[in-house]
Parts: sequence; structure tokens; C-alpha cells
Amino acid sequence: MYVYLNDRIVQRREAVVSVFDHGFLYGDGVYETMRAYDDVVFMLDEHINRLQSSASMIGLALPMDTGRMKAAIYDILGANSLKNAYVRLTVSRGYGPIGLDPSLCQVPTFVILAEEMKDYPRSFYDKGVRAIISRVRRTPSVAINPRIKSLNFLNNILAKIDANDVGAYEAIMLNMAGHIAEGTISNVFFVRDGIVCTPDTGCGILDGITRNIVLKLARKEGMMVMEGEFTTDDIYAATEVFVTNTTMEVMPIRQIDAVLYEVGNVGKFLRGLYREDVRAYVKNIKDHGPSIWEHE
Ligand code: PDD
Repeated sequence: MYVYLNDRIVQRREAVVSVFDHGFLYGDGVYETMRAYDDVVFMLDEHINRLQSSASMIGLALPMDTGRMKAAIYDILGANSLKNAYVRLTVSRGYGPIGLDPSLCQVPTFVILAEEMKDYPRSFYDKGVRAIISRVRRTPSVAINPRIKSLNFLNNILAKIDANDVGAYEAIMLNMAGHIAEGTISNVFFVRDGIVCTPDTGCGILDGITRNIVLKLARKEGMMVMEGEFTTDDIYAATEVFVTNTTMEVMPIRQIDAVLYEVGNVGKFLRGLYREDVRAYVKNIKDHGPSIWEHE
């Protein structure tokens, strides 16, 4: 397995970063998780745009331009002969003396990991996964803006520990106002009175790329959609709940705390539409897009 490290492709065992890297010392950096389907990285431009926005929100200059980053992603997929892959691009503040000041670091560390995409167990989609409402609140935007896809993941990890403690898969966090925010690695949707509901981005969440596609598809189908502020009572009263992210796509939730849900038709339908959207995207890139995946 090969890893993209700074400006080269190296063997996995050579893919090492200094203990003085501020990503390691302080969680100072940003990342993106992408998914490649059949040789095409889905929503690549959107992921690169979000990476740029995250980087700019922490005052980090990316070490290469967009074109080179895209080529690097396809290079590492090619080096590992991957068609369907999990791709993680990480940029940390880089090597520097101990001390919080980002200006101590001269050069960001740039890493791309690409691994074969291992599908989630079928039962996750057929039966749904269990979630809890975590006691851990989502970091408010005025502290660390959840729109920044940052390496600083302790907020989410503490919520995940809450979930692990009761054998649940995902933890849904509330914001400081007590409204539903998001999962530890996902955005949350639920259906109530036939309306597809999801917290709006003002609730302090990551502006999920999958979330936006699901919203677009639901609206295109003429479904009633509501982005807003919701409470735990709203989600407990839902007929179905699902979460979205790049790797899980649309995944049903079968239980939150003591409340059980059906794997409902709305989620199944949207998951089907999402998969069709992926196929259409891949076909379109192959038919008309730049032949970047053939990059030498
Ligand atoms: N997580 N909210 C949080 C906190 C996330 O970490 C993620 C993604 C999402 C969904 O975003 P998107 O649809 O753009 O993947 C929402 C990725 C998958 C991760 O951490 O690896």
C-alpha cells in the first residue's frame, strides 16, 4: 500500500510524520473524507472547496493548488490500483517547535490515504443502526465552528464514547440551545408527518456534502422538506430517522435511546435516489469530464 506524503508517493512504512507536527501535538489541521466509485472520486470539487474553506477558516495556506491536489488524489488511487476507495486527505499545520503559535510552522504536512472501500454490513441498511442522544453537546460555532472539518475531533470522540458505553453505533449531539445538531460523523434526518426534517446549518453543524445532495434530491421529487431547529421530542416522535455521510451514504437508524423506528420507505427511497445520483455523476465524468483519472 502506498501513501501520498507531502509531494511524493511512499510505501506505507515510510509514511511517517514528526512527533513535532502540530497536527499531532495540537490537532491543528483540516481534512476531507471522500469516496471513489468505479475510478471516479465522487463530488471531488465540493470536497476540495470545503477543504479550502476549512483551511482558510484556520488560517492555513494549502501547500498545493487545486489541480495538483486532484491529480495527487488520482495518483494515489492509481498507485494502489483502487477503483472503489475510501480517500482521506489531511493537511496539518506541519513541523514546528513546541508552542501553539501556528507561525512556528513553516510547511504544512500533506497526506492522502486511499484504501479499498469496505462496504458496511448489509444489516446496517436492512435493519438500521442504533443511536443515542449524547450528553456531550456539539462545540458551539463561537468556539470551534463545526463547519471547519478539523483534525480536532475530541468533541465527537467524547460523544462516540457515550455511544460505545451503551453499545450504540452513532451519537447524536445537541447544540448549546438544546436543538439537534449532528452525529459524530454524520448529519441527521428524520421524517415527521411526511416531512423530511434536518437541522439547518445555523444549528452549528458540518455542511455535509451528502446532506446537500439528499436535500436536493428530496426537493426535486417534490417531497416536503424542512431545515430548522428541532428538539429531542421532535426526533423521538419521528416515523423514521436516517443519517448521511460520504461513506455511509444514507443509513437508517432503528433506535434512539428507548425509541424504536422502522426502516422506512422515505429513507429507502432517498438512498436509492442517492445511489442513482452517484452513478449518473460517475458516468458524466467518464463521458465528459477531464480525463484526470488517466493521469500518468
Ligand atoms: N464525516 N458531520 C460530521 C461531524 C462529519 O464528520 C461528517 C463527515 C458529516 C457528513 O459530511 P459529508 O456528507 O460531507 O461526508 C457530518 C466523514 C465521513 C469523516 O469524518 O470521515
